[in-house]
Amino acid sequence: MRILYASDYNDLSRKAANIIAAQVILKPDCVLGLATGSSPLGTYKCLIEGYEKGDLDFSRCKAANLDEYRGLPKDNDQSYAYFMYENLFKHINIDMANTNIPDGMNADAEAECKRYDEAVRALGGVDIQLLGIGHNGHIGFNEPADEFPKGTHCVDLTQSTIDANTRFFARKEDVPTQAYTMGIQTIMSAKKILLIASGEGKADIVCRMAAGPVTPNVPASVLQLHNDVTIVADKEALSVLMEKAPEMIEGLPKA
Ligand code: F6R
Repeated sequence: MRILYASDYNDLSRKAANIIAAQVILKPDCVLGLATGSSPLGTYKCLIEGYEKGDLDFSRCKAANLDEYRGLPKDNDQSYAYFMYENLFKHINIDMANTNIPDGMNADAEAECKRYDEAVRALGGVDIQLLGIGHNGHIGFNEPADEFPKGTHCVDLTQSTIDANTRFFARKEDVPTQAYTMGIQTIMSAKKILLIASGEGKADIVCRMAAGPVTPNVPASVLQLHNDVTIVADKEALSVLMEKAPEMIEGLPKA
């Protein structure tokens, strides 16, 4: 696990985008594993800039996203399909037919999870998987549990997630209560993994992920077992690890 220091969110975004850009340049038909949430927004912005400058060509790339709310159609502005279109896909020259995301409208959870695992396998696997990390150590929607979930599966959202999402919906009954997510095995089968973390709120979990025991109680800790993981985190997100194990961090400015 390599852990790279970034001075702030912009630096983090540039570094993460450069790593993804290198992948796209070296393998123009690569498979990009993508994430939603606030962490990757800056990274996507830098990738869009790279495309606009003519440095990056996504025309042969394929993409597979981590997760999607169950019950939300693609055109709902809270769906992850909508997020990806608005924040990345519509700004670059990726072929939308080559983008993959679990179908939140497939009510048959078992069939949808099987279909998605097969779709990712049919792409030949993910070359580089971008991840954010939840405050509780979740990756995708793989929440702390007694064991690591393997393939794509349907999860019940925690009440706190449902409550937090309520503000985005006109009616309470429209708030999704479940999601489809790639499992830990699917994520771990990516050739490279790039996890980004920003802000003080992530400092404790970044330290537990990188320097704590590997346990399904901190799902991201499983990344310690992958042989090609890069973490890019900003100063705030590294503040606890900096105290406990500064030798793990590359590019730390001299005090
Ligand atoms: C998003 C996802 C989640 C987020 C995580 C961090 O597709 O799967 O695991 O990466 O919740 O979210 P932010 O970046 O909003 O802090």
